[in-house]
Amino acid sequence: MKDVIAIDGPAGAGKSTIAKKLAVQLNYNYLDTGAMYRAVTLLALTNKVDFSDKKKIVSLAKKAQFQFAFSNDESKLLLFLNGQDVSKLIRSKKINQHVSDVACIKGVRDILVKKQQELAQNGKVVMDGRDIGTRVLPEAEYKFYLTATLEERAQRRFNENLNHDDNVSYQQIKENIKLRDEIDSQRKHSPLKKAEDAILIDTTHFSIEEVVEKIKTIIRSE
Ligand code: CDP
Repeated sequence: MKDVIAIDGPAGAGKSTIAKKLAVQLNYNYLDTGAMYRAVTLLALTNKVDFSDKKKIVSLAKKAQFQFAFSNDESKLLLFLNGQDVSKLIRSKKINQHVSDVACIKGVRDILVKKQQELAQNGKVVMDGRDIGTRVLPEAEYKFYLTATLEERAQRRFNENLNHDDNVSYQQIKENIKLRDEIDSQRKHSPLKKAEDAILIDTTHFSIEEVVEKIKTIIRSE
């Protein structure tokens, strides 16, 4: 798949910030697949569905309409769920607590993977997530797997301070990231895993700009 860039890795490795910058600089679309799993989790919460009721969650995912758009200044990727901007709502502490369980449900994954593949079919797209290089777009022209130490990833999330309303501490963020990584890596259906042909980048000691440049150099040189 020409002009398709797949970026995978654990929480807080810098995927979404880097993917967004790359997309803007290359004039590609950007698709944040994690936001879609978060949105389905939000639907379950707002409809008061028990998280053990997989059937109901799958039916909510089936009916969901997703639309991505950059904010006017291109600094943010907004997600509209059934027409409503949920970009902020999907970053709450509650969503962080439940999203990895929702992402284990095979029926939910099947529906979202299909939607993600449709959204990528015209190329010129950067997509980030956990299973992009292994399952969603195994034929992507470029595949990257970003990682960093748990401490660095937790610190970055803490600095983003996205959920300051929730009053979450560094320690709580670290524990949530660790738990999600474990669930994401050990689940049965398309677990978080580096694709064999993905290029591994440890971002622990690099700035966002440095990683973006690194990726662009690799793309240009091939
Ligand atoms: O931004 P952060 O790294 O915290 O997570 P995210 O990319 O928003 O993804 C949230 C959760 O969705 C992950 O922890 C996974 O459980 C799930 N996910 C997934 O299973 N497959 C994807 N392609 C993307 C996200």
